[in-house]
Amino acid sequence: MKPKKILVIGNWKMTPNTLVEARAKMAIIKRFSDKMKLTETIICPPLPFIVPLSLMAGGIKGKIKIGSQDISKFESGAHTGEVGALMLKSSGVSYVIVGHSERRATGEDASTVAQKLQKVLAGGMTGVVCIGESERDNEAEYLSVIKGQLKEALVYMSRQQFANLVIAYEPLWAVNNSRNVAITPHEIHQIVILIRKYLKDNWGESIASIVKIVYGGSVTPDNAQDLVHNGEVDGLLIGRASWQPEDLKSICQSLNIEKKKPKIKLKKKGKK
Ligand code: PGA
Repeated sequence: MKPKKILVIGNWKMTPNTLVEARAKMAIIKRFSDKMKLTETIICPPLPFIVPLSLMAGGIKGKIKIGSQDISKFESGAHTGEVGALMLKSSGVSYVIVGHSERRATGEDASTVAQKLQKVLAGGMTGVVCIGESERDNEAEYLSVIKGQLKEALVYMSRQQFANLVIAYEPLWAVNNSRNVAITPHEIHQIVILIRKYLKDNWGESIASIVKIVYGGSVTPDNAQDLVHNGEVDGLLIGRASWQPEDLKSICQSLNIEKKKPKIKLKKKGKK
């Protein structure tokens, strides 16, 4: 079995301002991504740049995958301003972020997130559903918050759909934080355990093990490797650091170094 690739998902949010800039960034990303064996690069540009960047990336079969930052909960028809699953899929989109905290902050509720996730999966794409607490408290209430978000987002899931699900754990206090305070790998690992246990309790061991879990929030070239290797996540959802192709390159390079296995010293026979 091929080892799972580490997902490096770049969320460009509302940048850059022009297609010329977007194409220039993509050209650099394409050059280095081709050499990365252990990672899969997914770029989520603003909507108007999806088609041109997807063409540059070689379409759905290309090495770099294209993601959308959002999707409509509707199928099609009279919904001004909305963009549906079939439109995204036919524009070269393979991944769709749903329930990002910056969208939830505009009033997107949990039930809309669950409906959007269903549209992504029914449309044959992979859903990256974002969850995460807004703050941490000493009574560990935030653990119930995370479980509650999982329950709400996954309410319509069928067993077959889990193969195309990525859960992005993004604590809000670490997202777009100007002080770049990422969480510690140990704290991430605890949430990974919580998510897998939730999946196992509700859908069983096999489902719990196939779902990919990524971390997002103040990821930088300096902390990326530590967060993935010691946080035990399957990848990263990266905002600001993905806007600079050089930073993204450094992140990918750091993740393409094999994880060091702990050395076990064997005692020589006869020695005490
Ligand atoms: P950040 O954003 O990396 O800039 O903190 C992460 C995100 O919003 O997904």
